[in-house]
Amino acid sequence: MKILVTGGAGYIGAHMAKWLARAGHEVVIFDNLSTGFRFLARYGTLFEGDLNRPETIERCLEGQAFDAVIHFAARSLVGESVQNPLLYYQNNVSGTVNLLAAMDRAGVRRLIFSSTAATYGNPQSVPIPETAPTRPINPYGRSKRMMEQVIEDAVAAYSFDAVSLRYFNAAGADPEGELGECHDPETHLIPLVLQAALGKRPAVTIYGEDYPTPDGTCVRDYIHVWDLVAAHDAALSALMEDRVKGYDVFNLGIGHGYSVKEVIEVCQRVVAQSGCRIPVQVGPRRPGDPAELVADSRKAQRVLQWRAHHSDLETIVRHAWAWTRRYLG
Ligand code: UFG
Repeated sequence: MKILVTGGAGYIGAHMAKWLARAGHEVVIFDNLSTGFRFLARYGTLFEGDLNRPETIERCLEGQAFDAVIHFAARSLVGESVQNPLLYYQNNVSGTVNLLAAMDRAGVRRLIFSSTAATYGNPQSVPIPETAPTRPINPYGRSKRMMEQVIEDAVAAYSFDAVSLRYFNAAGADPEGELGECHDPETHLIPLVLQAALGKRPAVTIYGEDYPTPDGTCVRDYIHVWDLVAAHDAALSALMEDRVKGYDVFNLGIGHGYSVKEVIEVCQRVVAQSGCRIPVQVGPRRPGDPAELVADSRKAQRVLQWRAHHSDLETIVRHAWAWTRRYLG
């Protein structure tokens, strides 16, 4: 197949491109390199373009006969979205409108969309099923929810088939160590902890230990990036084989949460094998962090026949550590 991966120079998109290339598909990566990296875009042909310059995505799709688009290109920092919401609505929402218009014109009718648990906001209970109300609590989450709505409306009007995959906490790195997580600035827990282990940061700060959780720190559902991209592959097969038609939504997590303290403990164990240790301090809560986010992913298991194989926390951390040492060490 021939697949377009928007945002394929970013953390998850680059892993997706590798998975697809390994499976023998032809991969084109569309990325403006604003938050992605050229060196991650190594498993596809890189087309430098910007969804907010519609002529670039039109040119990319022109005469190419793509079988599907997997859409990762979006900004994804909660704090930045509060500071600069219009950037998020313009980049994420308008970018998606332009992508869909260009797909319609080029006759590309299948889309897999990189959505997020941030569309749920503060859940009433966990684990969270796809039927839970979507009440995002920041512009990032709202922009992703709007992107879903735009896609759903486009499906109804222009006969696309599309799937939204709502990720919980993507983590870990390519099991072969070639690709991994790098953001600038970095805000995610596991990379920050591992950078502290390498001495690149003085310490990791636990954002609050007064949450209503067993040890007082936030609980998240960490899913290995390789399991995450496997789920996209499963969604792609379901779309190609007409097992999923119209528009559908799936949560992607493993259905088990770990607290910030538990994550740091596992990281301590893994880095100790290399003679490293992680200085830890406790700070105030980070605004906007829900206490607990855990996925009910049974729908993805049932409909997409997807299973997580790499997502025990120790494997996630071992792979992330191997990449971090190679990349930063
Ligand atoms: N945390 C710390 N210290 C840090 C960094 C994070 O204690 O230095 C805590 C956070 O407070 C949170 C947990 O670690 O409780 C995980 O934080 P991350 O920033 O790694 O991930 P989030 O759960 O905030 O966000 C992730 C994605 C978002 C997405 C969200 C959906 O990165 O894009 O899940 O819930 F919106």
